[in-house]
Amino acid sequence: MRKSALGISAILGVALLFEPWWRRWRAERRLKELLEEHVGAEGRVVITGADRGIGKELARLLRHSRVSLLLGCLSTSAAEAGSDAKTAISNLELLDFDSVQRFAEEAHEFLREGKPGLRMLVNNAGYKERHEGDRTKYGTGRTWQINFLGPFLLTEFLARRRERDEVQYPASVINVASGHESESNLNKVLLDSLEAGVEATGHDYADSKRALLLWTSVRSQSLALKGELYAHAVSPGKVDTRFGCDEVPDLLWFLSKPVRMCLFRTTAEGALSIAAAGLRQHATSKFGQYFRGEELVEDLVVWRMPEKRLSVQLVRWAARASALEPRSGGRPLDIGGRSLSVSDLLVEQGEEDRWSSAERRWSSVSNLSRQVSEEILILPARISGIRWLAIRLRERLLRWLPF
Ligand SMILES: NC(=O)c1ccc[n+]([C@@H]2O[C@H](COP(=O)([O-])OP(=O)(O)OC[C@H]3O[C@@H](n4cnc5c(N)ncnc54)[C@H](OP(=O)(O)O)[C@@H]3O)[C@@H](O)[C@H]2O)c1
Repeated sequence: MRKSALGISAILGVALLFEPWWRRWRAERRLKELLEEHVGAEGRVVITGADRGIGKELARLLRHSRVSLLLGCLSTSAAEAGSDAKTAISNLELLDFDSVQRFAEEAHEFLREGKPGLRMLVNNAGYKERHEGDRTKYGTGRTWQINFLGPFLLTEFLARRRERDEVQYPASVINVASGHESESNLNKVLLDSLEAGVEATGHDYADSKRALLLWTSVRSQSLALKGELYAHAVSPGKVDTRFGCDEVPDLLWFLSKPVRMCLFRTTAEGALSIAAAGLRQHATSKFGQYFRGEELVEDLVVWRMPEKRLSVQLVRWAARASALEPRSGGRPLDIGGRSLSVSDLLVEQGEEDRWSSAERRWSSVSNLSRQVSEEILILPARISGIRWLAIRLRERLLRWLPF
């Protein structure tokens, strides 16, 4: 009896140890399948923040396919390690709008050339400030600038260049968001204080990631129609990278590896969820979709409609703060060919509050509890590697769970 208990524990222990590698292998295999299906004659992908973490892993996995890469990195030397002839590395400092504009020009040339096939821009670079630090030279906080204003300028500027040059290949834009956006308190008052330069939201990371979604919701139609840029957003889940943990001592980081491996997704899984959003049949025919992993969780254009007033104010602020118009020849922003105006705002403030925050947060809480319940219940099947059993259980649970 004791012996068999020991045997079972040993098997479970070994299975637990190998489970992250198994997940990693599965993610790599799935990405290969998607690439086979969707790359076409020649793929071209631009990734920001590819010198470590999820961006670096995504670049590594894409290198094995018919995809050429343009990597925008703060530290080009770190990104150069392991690069090859199909990879161009360019300096990109999201804290500097001139650098963003230069990179957008490069990205434009890169995406419009080559044979037909996959074209994708991944706004991956991100930052999470632990304590309120210095302002950038433009007067905003670093987190806001790196997570929202930089990607905003890069994408909007690129769309204008593409429209002017009448590009022939449509491209997708994948904005890397975060599940933390549901903790955001971003509202008109906060946005007013951001505009006035009195920034003290206390939730800069969550707020800036929510801003990414609101911008996508309100601008994706215009970006698609005018610039052939189909913007989507993805939340990669909790991934085992050093993101936001730079202050953790190296030794502690090293020692916590086994726990992190069990609790968090591997970088390959994170990279897969980001790439999958652009490697779909409708990646360049639909716009404004929000994915968690490979699952579509929201149509941002519809779901965030009640927040349109806030989104429009946000976009106007971002355009002013990044000097988008002067940089792109003084052309105003528009939605579907019409200028943004107050008459575009169909919702009242009360309606916005009632819907946007409560509804979205509830859906995010119930999604999370649903995911956790599912994961716990199917863990034995996942560990033992019995895939069909895990799938069956998941199907059953989906019918069962009350939320
Ligand atoms: N890890 C997670 O659990 C998780 C969860 C949800 C969402 N995300 C999102 O996923 C994305 C990638 O995260 P990660 O986990 O891979 O983080 P990471 O390992 O910290 O990588 C972040 C990347 O962004 C780059 N970056 C930071 N500041 C920059 C700047 N001023 N200009 C240009 N590049 C800059 C970094 O470059 P340096 O290395 O040179 O600083 C790095 O390459 C982020 O947008 C993050 O918000 C991550």
